Amino acid sequence: MADRYQKLTTSGPGAFVAKRLGLPQPEPLVRFRPGRPVVSGRVVLGGADGGRVGKTLRALLDSIGAEVETDSGAGAGETGTRPSVLVFDATGITDSGQLSALYAFFHPRIRSLAPNGRVVVVGTPPELVSDVSEATAQRALEGFVRSVGKELKRGATANLLLVAPGAENAVESAVRFAISPRSAYVSGQVVRIAGAKKVPAPADWERPLDGKVAVVTGASRGIGAVVAETLARDGAQVVVLDIPAQAEDLRRVAGRIDGTALELDITAADAADRLAEHLKEHHGGVDVVVHNAGITRDKTLGRMDAKRWDSVLAVNLTSVERLTARLLEGSSPVLRDGGRVIATSSISGIAGNVGQTNYAASKAGLIGYVQSLAPAASGRGITVNAIAPGFIETQMTAAVPLFIREAGRRMNSMKQGGQPVDVAEAVAFFASPGSAGVTGQVLRVCGQSLLGA
Ligand SMILES: NC(=O)c1ccc[n+]([C@@H]2O[C@H](COP(=O)([O-])OP(=O)(O)OC[C@H]3O[C@@H](n4cnc5c(N)ncnc54)[C@H](O)[C@@H]3O)[C@@H](O)[C@H]2O)c1
Repeated sequence: MADRYQKLTTSGPGAFVAKRLGLPQPEPLVRFRPGRPVVSGRVVLGGADGGRVGKTLRALLDSIGAEVETDSGAGAGETGTRPSVLVFDATGITDSGQLSALYAFFHPRIRSLAPNGRVVVVGTPPELVSDVSEATAQRALEGFVRSVGKELKRGATANLLLVAPGAENAVESAVRFAISPRSAYVSGQVVRIAGAKKVPAPADWERPLDGKVAVVTGASRGIGAVVAETLARDGAQVVVLDIPAQAEDLRRVAGRIDGTALELDITAADAADRLAEHLKEHHGGVDVVVHNAGITRDKTLGRMDAKRWDSVLAVNLTSVERLTARLLEGSSPVLRDGGRVIATSSISGIAGNVGQTNYAASKAGLIGYVQSLAPAASGRGITVNAIAPGFIETQMTAAVPLFIREAGRRMNSMKQGGQPVDVAEAVAFFASPGSAGVTGQVLRVCGQSLLGA
């Protein structure tokens, strides 16, 4: 699945030339395969004195059978093999002077991190801390982790998990995601974990969606098709939805995953009712709604006709609001308690992009939407989140002019485009019952793109 340049730079002579010329050499990223362990290789766990989450992390790492070594303060390199994961509980850091604990843990180890390795720092959301010194030090973690992500080479990632006080019991799904190959194209990101009334640990972490029903829009191809396959892999019964013109491809996807197909244009006046009726009639309701359908109609603003503006806003934003509102309405809503709503934003919605005033407005609108709907939905245990993909290899990006496409692929810490499965794994993370404490979040799946960073 590597692009042509990547193939060239991983071959003998190509690698030699790229190295001599100082050209990027994208590392083939290791992705999750069912049956594989969450982590293979050594995990080093450290923490600042007084941390709240270290004990939970230790128990969790033990429960997944990881080979864990606790930081003895004696420095690194002592056991020979390269660590695959470095985890540091920074919640005990209460002033800027104590940030030196981060340095002491990572400085001697960071250069020996294995290819495709993981750095995970755990902190406290600064906005929840009333003490100024502590909030300052906790906010510093973000700059640290983002910089580590940019310094790491060979497919390694660095991410920050901010755990609210009292939410220590809700970290497992985020930790599993961040340390495993499921987060291959997620780096430099911050995920906030809040306390949730109920965080049901899935009976089987390989099939967390057993017994759940999911619907994925725009699922006949590209990212949506892989999201549908991934949710089915995780145990969900999946309804795939796309426009009637895509019926043949849609049926093929449904056939592959033993799901059902619903031909529907989400902008049609009766789309919300038809979706709600389908889900009620065939499945009694729905647990996971993935708004993935999206279109681009690029033109600079002065040259953009109203049709391009209207169609992009209608598909990407207004239909998401209308469909979700319908699934949430009434005394017996179609979206069940503990449900999941996942929107597909874009880094364009964060950074803006030439020729994409319509698209970026729609994708930024989705960010506002999930952030404002999340608190309102939390009473029923429903979480509402967004994924913001960067450059992902699909038909949508294949249509981008060559030079812009090549720039999009390389302008990130991984020096390569992501695969649809990278977005799908992030959707699966949000969809998991174990992610009950993760809501109102925007997770970038962009290889730490420079855009909007
Ligand atoms: N590919 C990327 O790099 C990238 C980056 C950022 C965000 N995204 C977003 O990810 C999502 C999927 O992107 P993709 O690259 O797989 O695109 P794609 O064009 O391959 O697939 C989009 C799907 O949505 C369907 N669709 C469009 N209008 C619809 C409508 N009115 N009703 C029902 N279905 C409709 C299409 O038929 C198509 O199957 C989109 O929301 C896109 O904006 C993609």
